[in-house]
Amino acid sequence: MRRIEVGGPQPYAVEVGPGLLARVRVPQRQVALLHPVDLPPAYVQVVQAALSPCVTVPVPARDDCKTLAVYADVLSRLAQVNLPRDGAVVGLGGGAATDLAGFVAATYLRGVAFYTLPTTLLGMVDAAVGGKTGVNLPEGKNLVGAFWPPRAVWCDTDTLATLPRPVFAEGAAEAYKHGLIADPTLLSRVLSPGFCPGGPGLQDTLADAVAVKAGVVSRDLTEQGERAFLNFGHTLAHGLEAATNHAVTHGEAVGYGMHYAALLSRALGGADLSGHTLAFLRWQRPQPLPPLTFDDVWPYMARDKKADTQGVRFVLLHDLAQPYLARVPETVLRRAFETWQTDVTSLS
Ligand code: GLY
Repeated sequence: MRRIEVGGPQPYAVEVGPGLLARVRVPQRQVALLHPVDLPPAYVQVVQAALSPCVTVPVPARDDCKTLAVYADVLSRLAQVNLPRDGAVVGLGGGAATDLAGFVAATYLRGVAFYTLPTTLLGMVDAAVGGKTGVNLPEGKNLVGAFWPPRAVWCDTDTLATLPRPVFAEGAAEAYKHGLIADPTLLSRVLSPGFCPGGPGLQDTLADAVAVKAGVVSRDLTEQGERAFLNFGHTLAHGLEAATNHAVTHGEAVGYGMHYAALLSRALGGADLSGHTLAFLRWQRPQPLPPLTFDDVWPYMARDKKADTQGVRFVLLHDLAQPYLARVPETVLRRAFETWQTDVTSLS
């Protein structure tokens, strides 16, 4: 088992290892356990037994749970069972369920204790750590939310065994991204055969990828500065997700988006890191993209949360582990998009 400390205004620990679901303990006596309806029932039963007594609140699967309607239903349920101010909300499942659970915890009775038990690689490496919680609006993803750090995170690596390969590979995009922006040792480790459910490289590679995020959010919880670097590859990714009505999954969009960001970085004089991002895409084997033009995705990219009154900013790399934020002229964006399209088309 590996333990990673997260600093900041309210420090907590992330534990990474096998068998953790059964060892979950929280000091609160009354607990609401949120989980997606499609989670393997055995996971819910193990956590229920560990937290007993607790109220279970099933929520719709994946991003279908991140709506204002589901959020309101869950709040009503907690009120109906009289979850008190000194109770706790525990989020078990993928990133969507833990994002919803955190926002419920942040706002129910103006805030109760929150814990996360992510069961996907994406949830472990990214969503469950760092306190970004929220729901989507019809107008866009994560437009309503709060920073509400968990009091503890348990990443039970046994839960990754039931993930289909494309879902595991989706989450690997965030671990690889942490390699590009901060810890280049992760690059070859994520692509190695040992980085797979049950593999010998899983626990340490995962823990080191979590440690990158833990370090960033310890220094910059509310994204005043370096936390924005965690969005490397995400500007095009959000454009691809929105332009395809989420037919492209987040982790696959991030894989594609990291390659675009590498091409932009090179175009602005940075090192050529496109070999790394292409190597990741070959390993990830994402679904081929539908035909898309720059003008299909640009309106969504321009609405990116890193945009300010002067326009959109991209996270780019001078070199490995040297991220920075930059505005990029539209001519450069269009030219890089053409190169990106040629590259990603040649993958399939
Ligand atoms: N997923 C990016 C962040 O937590 O800041």
